[in-house]
Amino acid sequence: MNILSPSILSADFWKLGEDIRELEKAGVPWIHVDVMDGLFVPSISYGMPVLSCIRPNTEMFLDVHLMIERPERYVKEFAKCGADLINFHIEATDDVEECIRLIRETGKKVGITIKPATPASAVAPYLSLVDMVLVMSVEPGFGGQKMIPDCVHKATQIRKMAQEKGLDLDIEIDGGVNLDNLQMVLDAGANVIVAGSAVFKNDICVNCQKFQEIMGE
Ligand code: DX5
Ligand code: ZN
Repeated sequence: MNILSPSILSADFWKLGEDIRELEKAGVPWIHVDVMDGLFVPSISYGMPVLSCIRPNTEMFLDVHLMIERPERYVKEFAKCGADLINFHIEATDDVEECIRLIRETGKKVGITIKPATPASAVAPYLSLVDMVLVMSVEPGFGGQKMIPDCVHKATQIRKMAQEKGLDLDIEIDGGVNLDNLQMVLDAGANVIVAGSAVFKNDICVNCQKFQEIMGE
């Protein structure tokens, strides 16, 4: 199933609730929540309090993308604040398996994430332990960047590895996705699509509808 997961990093925080209602109006199932710590990535975004405000107000699935050092320190708190799925970067921890275990313990879904320089093979040992692999198609840290198209083939490689192991994984692409390159990303094997700047400009609902038309939702 193809899923659109708009990144609220590009939303207008003055009216975040209204922006999220626009996503609901378009029938979008997921919200992508980018958490940055100023260490793993150069920028700082938002964290637990924002998630806690969203959670009681929508049924949408909260797809949290932790761009933080040693994510194991915070998975419990993000689970408590209402995350449905917690993605962490395998580059950010010394013990990937332990971090996966900690997320599992909370009962939430688990995603592992790779930066553009990390090869697809790096996720191979963990594929049977996770629900999703998130492939970054820009350097994490900022919305509104241009996609690095070379990253997209990693979705194809990971899809193939998963199929060989008989696993039905979600594969998410994040960074620089727009209506012009969306089909290419889907063709590569990704089924969860993050889009920030391409969704939260002009008419949010219309943008989402256009995305979902191409995605066949
Ligand atoms: C980048 C974030 C992305 C980003 C996507 O560090 O992980 O989720 O907000 O925004 P666009 O679609 O504008 O690249
Ligand atoms: Zn993200």
